Amino acid sequence: MQLRADGSALRAPLPSWAVAAFLHVACTIALTTLAARAPGLMPGASWYWFEGGGAALLGAIAGLPVWWLPINLLFVPTAHALLGWQLPAPCYLAVCCALYAVNVSAWRHRVPLFLSSARAVAALAAWLPRHAGFRFIDLGCGTGSLLVDLAKARPDGEYHGIEAAPLPFLLSRWRARTQPGMSVMHGNFWDTGLAGYDVVYAYLSPAPMARLWRKARREMRAGSLLVSNSFAVPGVAPTYTLPVGDGIGSVLFIWRM
Ligand SMILES: C[S@@+](CC[C@H](N)C(=O)[O-])C[C@H]1O[C@@H](n2cnc3c(N)ncnc32)[C@H](O)[C@@H]1O
Repeated sequence: MQLRADGSALRAPLPSWAVAAFLHVACTIALTTLAARAPGLMPGASWYWFEGGGAALLGAIAGLPVWWLPINLLFVPTAHALLGWQLPAPCYLAVCCALYAVNVSAWRHRVPLFLSSARAVAALAAWLPRHAGFRFIDLGCGTGSLLVDLAKARPDGEYHGIEAAPLPFLLSRWRARTQPGMSVMHGNFWDTGLAGYDVVYAYLSPAPMARLWRKARREMRAGSLLVSNSFAVPGVAPTYTLPVGDGIGSVLFIWRM
């Protein structure tokens, strides 16, 4: 999905995966034709690298996001190498299932898994309420690392997480077992009420931000904080904007409700 600077979606004529698939088919046809006419041109396994290089270059020219570059470059050479290893078929099924269990939210909710940086966690800790017993929730808590770090920094609060992807959820639930005051649920945060929390934290993507804002306005109590790591709400100025100073340019957008 292509995004405007304010985070709203641009309508792309084709999804990135369809463009990439088309380019790989086109490169394969072109290189096979070339190899038939000039047999010595691409000896041995070099064909696969020509294919990957061609698809990566054409993908960049076609405007695919930069992270498609290594995917396009390595896809066919990796597939060729894996076929050479002759792994049993269930291995491929197991890898597919594991990838699905980690990345299901990227497909369903357009939010992939990546983690808040240590500096973002430290900056966030400074915004936790002063009174003991405050309630914090991480919407899409991933592997639970943010909750664990906050619970260690401020053990006088309650830390809740909700996560839709099965593998990250299991990991965060396992980490919560030794962390007093931390609990993690499996599920969809759109079905969770936000009224009972002093701080609601989200590190998602531009896609759900407008809807999250409407939910927060409906449900959050006056005086509570909504904190979004790096993704603004289109058209709604935050109460505070806090550059975190980590290597990935994280910014905390904070709204006092
Ligand atoms: C970018 S990660 C952030 C992880 C963690 N909050 C952190 O800051 O380190 C976003 C997480 O939200 C989860 N997620 C996305 N949409 C969700 C939804 N509707 N309900 C529950 N979890 C969701 C994803 O599976 C992913 O693990």
